[in-house]
Amino acid sequence: MYQAPRGTQDILPADQPYWRTILQTVERLAQTYGYARIDTPIFEDTSLFERGVGGGTDIVDKEMYSFEDKGGTPITLRPEFTAGVMRAYIEHGMRTWPQPVKLYSTGPIFRYERPQAGRFRQHHQFNVEAIGAQDPALDLEIMSVAWQLYTELGFGGLSFQLNSTGCPQCRPAYLHALKAYYQPHESAVCDDCRRRLQRNPLRVLDCKKESCQAIIAGSPHIIDYLCAECAEHFSRLRHYLDLLGRPYELNHRLVRGLDYYTKTVFEVWASGIGAQNALCGGGRYDGLVEELGGPPTPGVGFASGLERIVLLMKAQDIEPESLGPAPFLLAYQGAEAKDSAVRLVNELRAGGMGAILTFGDRSMKAQLRQANRSGVRFVLIIGPDELAEAQITVRDMAGGAQQRIARADFFAWAKERVL
Ligand code: HAM
Repeated sequence: MYQAPRGTQDILPADQPYWRTILQTVERLAQTYGYARIDTPIFEDTSLFERGVGGGTDIVDKEMYSFEDKGGTPITLRPEFTAGVMRAYIEHGMRTWPQPVKLYSTGPIFRYERPQAGRFRQHHQFNVEAIGAQDPALDLEIMSVAWQLYTELGFGGLSFQLNSTGCPQCRPAYLHALKAYYQPHESAVCDDCRRRLQRNPLRVLDCKKESCQAIIAGSPHIIDYLCAECAEHFSRLRHYLDLLGRPYELNHRLVRGLDYYTKTVFEVWASGIGAQNALCGGGRYDGLVEELGGPPTPGVGFASGLERIVLLMKAQDIEPESLGPAPFLLAYQGAEAKDSAVRLVNELRAGGMGAILTFGDRSMKAQLRQANRSGVRFVLIIGPDELAEAQITVRDMAGGAQQRIARADFFAWAKERVL
């Protein structure tokens, strides 16, 4: 028996209303905030992610779906959107467009992770990027997209986590202080943290191992090491957040799992969605475009996992909008009645009315049972009597009332009720 590959899932019809609700909401919000859609390829050159996301991150070192294609080119299924969107920004000369260029995407993302609640090997993201301006008001705008998305979906109990990770000017001094602080503790921390101290020291702050927690708690805070520019940027962002009355928590341990971040980083946390509870994450990446071969260009963005939004909607009993079943089901008896039903269902559909035809020439009883289960509003019955009198029997499933309507008048009758 085949099963969907580990860490992937089928999105069955019953779950589609959640996805439709989320996707409609993000499309509308993107429009409200002035973000245009961009679709980039699902695979890119492997080196794009190695340079963009960074060697030494879990994503690049352990989680990429990488392979050589039949022409021998190293290819990777995208483990995130940002690097691909920056590649497109450079490739299409978007620096000549009015700045910032504001783009959003939705689609599948691939990471070879250990599957667990809320963590998959194929997940989907709503991703938003604003490229070409270093204004802290733009960081606020990006955070506001997340804020409004979750507010409109009706979520409660969320927590905005905020930190600054500095820039190449000020971060070295912080890393120096962090390493110096860890030196006397090196034998006490986990193996992973010992490795991180060598390759990617910021990541020790994100360690989940119990044995490392007390040591992390005493570590120096990066915001005490920010250069004047980063400190001013952070303080303006906090000013704007206060201006809009947005609650957030300063989280000195928030460092994110991708290397490109500079200055602002943020996540939104929620309980009930598993996997460390991050509903979304993002921040500023002022060096990324240059790192990928473009001109120095600041940027800021975030991405939200759509599966986690679905999980949270279910955990918080938020009902998605449903399109509902078609209003009509046609039941018929005999070949001639079936001809009439085939014509009528075609006429209704062409007129924009949802109609279901039963198949397999089953008994009237079986067809009515199907009607009951399908949730249609009206069953249209065509049998020998109806044919003889050029009528249709209409049964209203709500109360069970039946009436005969002349075939010639039926289309107008139907339009009045369901359009
Ligand atoms: P990220 O934090 O790696 O950031 O992922 C963003 C969101 O995707 C997470 O907060 C989570 O909701 C969801 N997510 C990540 N991995 C999984 C998984 N294995 N299963 C289910 N959901 C998952 C980025 O990807 C950055 N590119 C975001 C960004 C855009 N930063 C700036 N611009």
